[in-house]
Amino acid sequence: MTSDPRLDLEQHQNEALAQIAAAADPGALEQLRIRLTGRKAPLSEELSRIGALPADERRDAGQRANAVKRAIAEALDRRGQALRSHGAGARGEAEAIDLTFPGAPPRRGHLHPVSLVTRDMEQIFRGLGYDVARGPEVDTDYYSFEALNIPKGHPARDGFDTFFVADPGSSSEPDPTAETNLVLRPHTSPMQVRVMEQQSPPIKAVFPGKVYRRDSDATHVPMFHQLEGLAVDAGITVADLRGTLEYFARAMFGNERKIRLRPDYFPFTEPSLEVQVSCFVCEGAGCSLCRHSGWIEILGSGMVHPNVLRFGGIDPARYRGFAFGMGIDRIAMLKYGIEDMRAMFENDVRFVSQF
Ligand code: PHE
Repeated sequence: MTSDPRLDLEQHQNEALAQIAAAADPGALEQLRIRLTGRKAPLSEELSRIGALPADERRDAGQRANAVKRAIAEALDRRGQALRSHGAGARGEAEAIDLTFPGAPPRRGHLHPVSLVTRDMEQIFRGLGYDVARGPEVDTDYYSFEALNIPKGHPARDGFDTFFVADPGSSSEPDPTAETNLVLRPHTSPMQVRVMEQQSPPIKAVFPGKVYRRDSDATHVPMFHQLEGLAVDAGITVADLRGTLEYFARAMFGNERKIRLRPDYFPFTEPSLEVQVSCFVCEGAGCSLCRHSGWIEILGSGMVHPNVLRFGGIDPARYRGFAFGMGIDRIAMLKYGIEDMRAMFENDVRFVSQF
């Protein structure tokens, strides 16, 4: 037998390269790779036979077989890359972005009813010559209670459902009786004394802002908004309070509104007066908004207590003042007929864009 058991390397290489070029997908190419370079591949067997050749043939045969091996490996690599990038191209075509397609118009935001009403209020009071100021939401026990004539142990403290703020520098629980204790202010009244400390009469200012109480139901949320007002000057009387708040109620709820004052109690005002406005839905006839009374409570007010003037460094023998505080959210609900206060804080654009 003259047949040469040795592989025809040139023919093997040509066939292998043709098969590689024809591989249609990465799976077929992988099958080929195993067939052409695996342990049982013809070329591998050829290479293993080389060791048995006479020394003078070994080197030449080894070089030729290795060159074929390299050529096949390179062809496999190239074809693999080509198949992969072709796949990516097909995907790119399927997911192509049409840069000429018109974009979705951005949705425009809308002012929240609380912002709208706060702006209205500020503008009404600016028209009366009031300044607008904002103060800290985290305040001390001193400004929140003590300086407002609410000493430790005073029962009025309970009504404020206060959040106490732990001092990050101390490991112990906050002592609810310490004057330097921090609280989330439960009302905007701390601004009364803060401003009196910094200005001398005449003082006319309103203070809008967030306040916090541990309270939550359809008409109470743990964070809400108040607008505080303060006027201090020589000779201020309840008549000034009444005239100012009547002007406000008309500007806010309509020119035909009337107000009435009812006795109330706050430790920081004396006398204290609840202000009610004639119902703007039923004009006094009685409806569900005014609970069939014809009147709606809109705010708490009174003449600034002499102790509070003193805490603010103002001599109560020379000056008097009035103060008032109202819930901005509540006024927004009344004005816009919103029934559940929680709707105000759900961040739903469909809700806020109605106002
Ligand atoms: N601070 C009071 C409250 O939150 C409201 C108020 C302010 C009453 C000013 C009188 C004077 O209920």
